[in-house]
Amino acid sequence: MNLKGRDLLRILDFNEEELRLMLDTAKRLKKLKHEHKNHKVFPLKNIAILFEKTSTRTRCSFEVAGYDLGMGVTYLDPTGSQMGHKESIADTARVLERFYDGIEFRGFEQKTVDELAQYSSVPVWNGLTDYCHPTQALADFMTIEEHFGELKGLTIAFVGDTRNNVANSLMAMSAKMGVNFIACGPEDLHPAEDVVQECAPVAEKNGSTITVTNDVNDLNGKVDAIFTDVWLSMGEDKDKWGERITLLKPYRVTMEMMNNAKPTTVFLHPLPSFHDLNTTVGKEIGEKFDLTEMEVTDEVFNSERSLVFEEAENRMHTIKSVMFLTLYDKEEQNEEHYNEF
Ligand code: CP
Ligand code: NVA
Repeated sequence: MNLKGRDLLRILDFNEEELRLMLDTAKRLKKLKHEHKNHKVFPLKNIAILFEKTSTRTRCSFEVAGYDLGMGVTYLDPTGSQMGHKESIADTARVLERFYDGIEFRGFEQKTVDELAQYSSVPVWNGLTDYCHPTQALADFMTIEEHFGELKGLTIAFVGDTRNNVANSLMAMSAKMGVNFIACGPEDLHPAEDVVQECAPVAEKNGSTITVTNDVNDLNGKVDAIFTDVWLSMGEDKDKWGERITLLKPYRVTMEMMNNAKPTTVFLHPLPSFHDLNTTVGKEIGEKFDLTEMEVTDEVFNSERSLVFEEAENRMHTIKSVMFLTLYDKEEQNEEHYNEF
């Protein structure tokens, strides 16, 4: 199997074996990192990472993974390039491909990252758009596989704003990997019909189901992992906070929800999270709407059943895996570095 030159734009573009290879390679790279073994396999390569939206984990993952693989990394922040303002996406892609061996993009519209990929000959990696967050789903599945030992037979639920980017990619990843997926949230925030219609046949082929519900009791006794995310995503209108809080308060992940699911149910969240008031935005919204926590209680977030920091670490290993697999060319590399693989 060879993923050289492929873009990572959305999970559904890859088959089960390719996604399996990404997870397995991430595990090997994690081991190398933890054993402090050199894996600087791309000393002659450089990557550009472009962010229209802010980031901690995704940016740091691409940077550290890039450095660990021996590459040079250029970060361009939301205002740090001409892209979109003075230069078209197509022209930007055609310039960057002359300098770089791979391009990461985080931004608003999926069509921007699709267009970058269309016009550049080097791999383009999606670091989040309004539509999906594929590298997050890879890290999420790596984390639950590490925890449970295997993926097949698991049932996971995404609770809250079930039509957001993180939920879309989790549904796609579940369908591909044969994991049962439950989207649980208010009807107004249910997944887009076309997203479900695309994933459902894939899930069926792989022996799993996709369920959409507004009833939190549908999680009871069934769910191995509960995922949630912020109630208002980057780029959404801040005036919507009030409406979202009213809709989503019944879907806050509490210890009662966790216990009703299964005594062994674990909690995951892409982060950042409003589980307390220790952030500027959390404090402001909390005070305005009389809340001390939002999508998850502080108790669940900080409990032993919370895998959020393992999940955050796995962003780096999975992103490294994607870059490694899409850049790797046995012919052009120094064999000495490849012994590990
Ligand atoms: N989970 C995630 O994508 O985090 P950042 O926004 O910090 O990159
Ligand atoms: N849904 C969130 C995910 C952040 C990692 C957002 O888009 O803001």
